[in-house]
Amino acid sequence: MADLAADLGFLKLRNPLLTASGTFGYGLEFAPFLDLASPGGIVVKGLYYGPREGNPPPRLVETASGLINAIGLQGVGVEHFAADVLPELRRRGAVVVVNVCGASDEEYLRVIDFLNEQEGIAAYELNISCPNVKQNGACPAMDARATQSIVYEAKARSRRPLIAKLSPNVTDIASIARAAEDGGADAISLINSLLAMAVDLETGRPKLGNVFGGLSGPAIKPVALRMTYQVARAVKIPVIGMGGIMTGEDALEFMLVGAMAVQVGTANFVDPAAAVRVAAEMGAWCDAHGIARVSDIVGKLKTDR
Ligand SMILES: Cc1cc2nc3c(=O)[nH]c(=O)nc-3n(C[C@H](O)[C@H](O)[C@H](O)COP(=O)(O)O)c2cc1C
Repeated sequence: MADLAADLGFLKLRNPLLTASGTFGYGLEFAPFLDLASPGGIVVKGLYYGPREGNPPPRLVETASGLINAIGLQGVGVEHFAADVLPELRRRGAVVVVNVCGASDEEYLRVIDFLNEQEGIAAYELNISCPNVKQNGACPAMDARATQSIVYEAKARSRRPLIAKLSPNVTDIASIARAAEDGGADAISLINSLLAMAVDLETGRPKLGNVFGGLSGPAIKPVALRMTYQVARAVKIPVIGMGGIMTGEDALEFMLVGAMAVQVGTANFVDPAAAVRVAAEMGAWCDAHGIARVSDIVGKLKTDR
């Protein structure tokens, strides 16, 4: 069986597959379906300092090959997470990455300060890219200067590796990625969901309570692949790719364009054991193609004709 290990430098993973934030709860919800120690890592649902109710319903709409969500970062807050969730994730041997949110720069830093004191967190993923909390999907990752500034501040406070999660809702993703690298990010993850909307013709209303939401799932894979490729060529730090991964082959395509690891999101709603299945499929594909280590294919896309 092919060696699936992924070495991000600051983090060594048993396989390159993590669950994407917001699609895998806080991990424990999925314990009936898979061993939480078996994915490379679990990125938990985004956490603000305090609990949040999120957006008014309806908050989910299915589209052709995709899903639009406007959850609005509902969450339990860091104190509840640290007291009631994190100890159990540790006991189960999960590699935990916390998706850090903030309504202001100060809140991001407060969340990091609090989490710095907790045991059992492998890294932070700075969520500067949620498209459904502010009007018109605005977020720090839409602007290079705002990205560099918040990443710099967060990195200065963080006692753990910091992954900056980028938004696809920009014109020039490479410049935003370079801003995150300049700010001191240890890695970049992308893409968050694409700003989208759905309309109910009969009622003449938007289908989502928030009007706008974020599109995810297979519909966005070509965009996510393109952006992962551009970012991997623009920065020296590791890149974690995601967007529409449903199978091992999908995941390997992201690695071929330069991702050292990948995340599986919307697929978890279709198959709660997707993270384990996709990793097994990656291994099987490598075996069938005589590839001893999955890391050997990272960035090996051939662009000559
Ligand atoms: C219901 C839902 C909730 C999400 N919540 C978060 C979140 O809390 N933080 C975050 O950074 N991304 C969040 N995302 C974005 C995903 O982590 C991921 O970036 C995106 O869905 C693309 O991957 P996919 O096509 O595999 O789902 C959410 C996505 C969905 C569908």
